[in-house]
Amino acid sequence: EEALKTKYMGRKIFLYEQLDSTNAQAKRILKGETEEGTAKGYNIDLQMVPQDSLHGVLVLTEEQTAGRGRLGRDWSSPKRGGIWMSFLLKPSLPVNSCPMLTLVAAVAVNAAIRKVTGLESFIKWPNDIVINGKKVCGILTEAMGLSNEELNIVIGIGINANRKEFPEELRQSATSLSLEKGCNINRNLLIAETCSSLERYYEEFEGQGDLSLLKEEYEKYLINKGKQVRVLATEGEYLGRAIGINEQGALMVEGVEKEIHTIVSGEVSVRGV
Ligand code: BTN
Repeated sequence: EEALKTKYMGRKIFLYEQLDSTNAQAKRILKGETEEGTAKGYNIDLQMVPQDSLHGVLVLTEEQTAGRGRLGRDWSSPKRGGIWMSFLLKPSLPVNSCPMLTLVAAVAVNAAIRKVTGLESFIKWPNDIVINGKKVCGILTEAMGLSNEELNIVIGIGINANRKEFPEELRQSATSLSLEKGCNINRNLLIAETCSSLERYYEEFEGQGDLSLLKEEYEKYLINKGKQVRVLATEGEYLGRAIGINEQGALMVEGVEKEIHTIVSGEVSVRGV
């Protein structure tokens, strides 16, 4: 049941005991700056199938010493219990599709978490996964290569899987799958399920070039939908009601005068009021 059934997603895995950041390592692999890692004592046993292309390569580590989050923040990634991973993708898509891929990943990880744990997880725009109002997963997508011919994407996913402890400043806002479930979850299974779910949603997205096929699924689990939100945009701060996303992944917010604001990924953060 744990065997990986994907065509390319996670078919080649680079495993490490410790890294600064799996996103940083994925970029080094891309540039040919590093050798394939072999993590001694690491017990993930997904199939490893050599392949020529780097498309779908998965970088995994037990611990990150410099894990990074969105908007320049740090990402706490201690040893044992977490899933710190990055997928390398070489999409046949224009550069401006990068922000949309982060929403594709959110749909995929949310589906994988629900399937493997049975927990009721939701998506907080653009790409946090939350359970009972607390964050269990964050996603950091980065693009490399400046032309449309040579676009490389790194999708970094951090899941608080079997984590028991959080630093003081995160206790109110973060949780783990094991804390919510009351028992440890099978990390191998969740990683394998994330690979297949990401491949499936990624292909739907790639075929279409926008989120029109995924919008419904995304909005079904969008925790902000229909709720009051406070938008902290570069132009200023305003209140409104989140009504959904558009095909490009922007959050649509209805303001007090029924005017519609289109909030582009990465530009703002949205908080419940
Ligand atoms: C966020 O919510 O701000 C995004 C967090 C992304 C964390 C993951 S963990 C694996 C990958 N490597 C990193 O340094 N960051 C991402």
